[in-house]
Amino acid sequence: MARINDSYLKLQAGYLFPEIGRRVKEFTDANPEAAVIRLGIGDVTLPLAPAVLKAFHDGVDDMAKGESFHGYGPEQGYDWLSQVIIDKAYKPLGVDLKTSEVFISDGSKCDCANILDIFDLGNKVAICDPVYPVYNDTNVMVGRTGEADDKGYYAGIHYMPCIGANNFTPAIPTEKVDVIYLCYPNNPTGVVATRGDLKKWVDYALANDAVILFDAAYEAFITEADIPHSIYEIEGARQCAIEFRSFSKTAGFTGVRCGLVVVPEELMGTTASGEKYSFNKLWNRRQTTKFNGVSYPVQKAAAAVYSDEGWTQIKKNIDYYMENARIIREGLTSAGITCFGGVNAPYIWLETPEGMSSWDFFDKLLNECHVVGTPGSGFGPSGEGYFRLSAFGARDNVETAVQRIKEKWGK
Ligand code: MLT
Repeated sequence: MARINDSYLKLQAGYLFPEIGRRVKEFTDANPEAAVIRLGIGDVTLPLAPAVLKAFHDGVDDMAKGESFHGYGPEQGYDWLSQVIIDKAYKPLGVDLKTSEVFISDGSKCDCANILDIFDLGNKVAICDPVYPVYNDTNVMVGRTGEADDKGYYAGIHYMPCIGANNFTPAIPTEKVDVIYLCYPNNPTGVVATRGDLKKWVDYALANDAVILFDAAYEAFITEADIPHSIYEIEGARQCAIEFRSFSKTAGFTGVRCGLVVVPEELMGTTASGEKYSFNKLWNRRQTTKFNGVSYPVQKAAAAVYSDEGWTQIKKNIDYYMENARIIREGLTSAGITCFGGVNAPYIWLETPEGMSSWDFFDKLLNECHVVGTPGSGFGPSGEGYFRLSAFGARDNVETAVQRIKEKWGK
């Protein structure tokens, strides 16, 4: 009989969001009349922006005619999309990139997982706690870790607790690590990193030959001035960082699927015999072998995000979600619930009322208010006692959810 990958058996629980979906389904099956409001998984609710939709349709129409039909595209994505991303999303930040450094993909979740292909298993990895579960679970799956301890920490990973006492900001490791995951604006806590914070990480990475895996999926939700949108705004980051971006939340592509990875040409790792080798070359090799690119109509739609018309429409959607975030944050704060995030990120991270555990609060909120959120402990042990609400709902649902929570727990 073929052997399975035993590393999967080390995983402590099912993936967080399907587990929440299972519990919600159980509840709705038993209570079909309940008007359940879903503010759990960060899934968008507004339709695609009209300019994006038009480009998407045009892309499909192109596929209907011999002269404009597209078969396999470049595995790295079309240069016209990479170039518009460079011009519109990076140049205004003072960041210059080449199209050969931008790899278009079918989304950030896959990229964050697949990137592990180009790192040796012996690398010491540093992960925040709480964290987007993909970073942690994929390291377990590839066999980088030992078993989990009673707390839920896997042997071999360097965990960086992010709690109220440190403003949810991870401490720079005192030991040497080789790969560091950072996500800003942060999922799940909604906090951001200042230039000074990121400079410390870049300095650490350069001094320790480490690589930062920087997840910037939520950068479009930054509202405050002078918060960096890209790690490459920090000097030296091209030598030590890979950046992930996503169209999912920015442009409503959760069901369309498109993201990108930036791997600068200067970024080097070492071979077993100690020679330098380019991560860009490795990622290119990985993608050309394991990936056949994103569909042409989707890339046409993604390029339209950066047209003047497209961006104006998308900005309106982002503002809508951030107004939801304000309604949740201010509504719950006025009810005496301590909230974080929601200013530069579409997530509100709150302390559970009455010191409830995260899952107890989840159950109570679902059963008594018919509102779904995400238990903080699902993002890691330091998330215990916290809870995440997403701002991606429809406005009336958001208002109703806040009202129900205030009625239940308001002081
Ligand atoms: C979340 O809710 O954390 C995200 O939607 C999950 C994801 O982007 O995969």
